[in-house]
Amino acid sequence: METRLLPAIPENIALAAETIKAGGLVAFPTETVYGLGANALDADAVARIFAAKERPTADPLIVHLSGLDQLSRVARSVPTTAQRLAETFWPGPLTLVLSKQPHVPALVTSGLDTVAVRVPDHAVALALLRAANLPIAAPSANRFGHVSPTTAQHVWHDLHGRIEIILDGGATAVGVESTVLDVSTSPPAILRPGGIPAEMLEAVIGPVAVLRRSLPLDQGLPSPGLLEKHYAPRAALIFFIGPTGREALMAHLAATRAAGRRAGVLAMDEDAPALARGGAVVYRLGADLNSVARHLYAGLRWLDAQGVDVILCRDFGTGGLGLAIRDRLTRAAARVVETT
Ligand code: TXA
Ligand code: MG
Repeated sequence: METRLLPAIPENIALAAETIKAGGLVAFPTETVYGLGANALDADAVARIFAAKERPTADPLIVHLSGLDQLSRVARSVPTTAQRLAETFWPGPLTLVLSKQPHVPALVTSGLDTVAVRVPDHAVALALLRAANLPIAAPSANRFGHVSPTTAQHVWHDLHGRIEIILDGGATAVGVESTVLDVSTSPPAILRPGGIPAEMLEAVIGPVAVLRRSLPLDQGLPSPGLLEKHYAPRAALIFFIGPTGREALMAHLAATRAAGRRAGVLAMDEDAPALARGGAVVYRLGADLNSVARHLYAGLRWLDAQGVDVILCRDFGTGGLGLAIRDRLTRAAARVVETT
């Protein structure tokens, strides 16, 4: 199949909407990462998402809506907490897990009686959703297990020849996926940390729980093999966590260089000069956590493209977007080095 990479101008968004309505696949930008969209109410179209990504059907999809007013098309009931969060954070990088309407295909939800829903905060995504006038099921537009795409070129790299259209709306702003929140439990539970930090949710609804796998340092690291491997680059990523993570990374860099191997490092600006002096191929993530999140996936892909033997990165803490960044790096890592 010929994939068309098109600038996200109104006539191409209209064409993309027609493609969605006809059962086709369209990759489009959101504020988090690019999504691979299909009509969420058409099981055959949704099946094509799984085929294009080579994604196991046991992994349910997020349904995207143009606004809160569309929620009853896919969700059966909306608890008060969910209503308040939606009013506060939509459009935005928060996904709510709600009880589903019976007509939402089982393939979208992997047979669960819940559906994950969000309203993306991106003009192109919203224009596409309005023009199609359909709920759009969309996972990240990468091959399963690869790093999520934050540019149209990343999507092209992973999916060209497998989907009809890629709408190019430039690089995404948040850079990590949405926060997935289960509001059916008490307290509500973060199933995946993401673009809306836990602190921001707690400011609105009080305490939330965080799933264990996102907190290796605080709760004891299980064998890395037990962690879901995901978001992974080709080169082995070694993730340094704990109070002396920075020093452990520098020591590992020196040992890698001494062994005649090339090390790539994802680094904050403050760390970059020392790392470059140490012989690393450095990808600068910027000076704050927003910038780290925005550039994280592009950095992993870029270092992979440099053909480095190993990729090193230190932890950035658990405050704000730090938790989501730690979650992604932990799952992308071949090895987590926990320092004391
Ligand atoms: O930012 C994002 O969320 C991006 C953009 C495209 O919106 N989408 C995204 O989709 O990251 P995906 O498929 O890569 O991740 C969806 C996550 C998975 O971890 C999945 O397990 C969870 O949402 N999920 C989906 N439906 C669920 C459900 N009914 N119950 C619990 N978790 C669910
Ligand atoms: Mg994904």
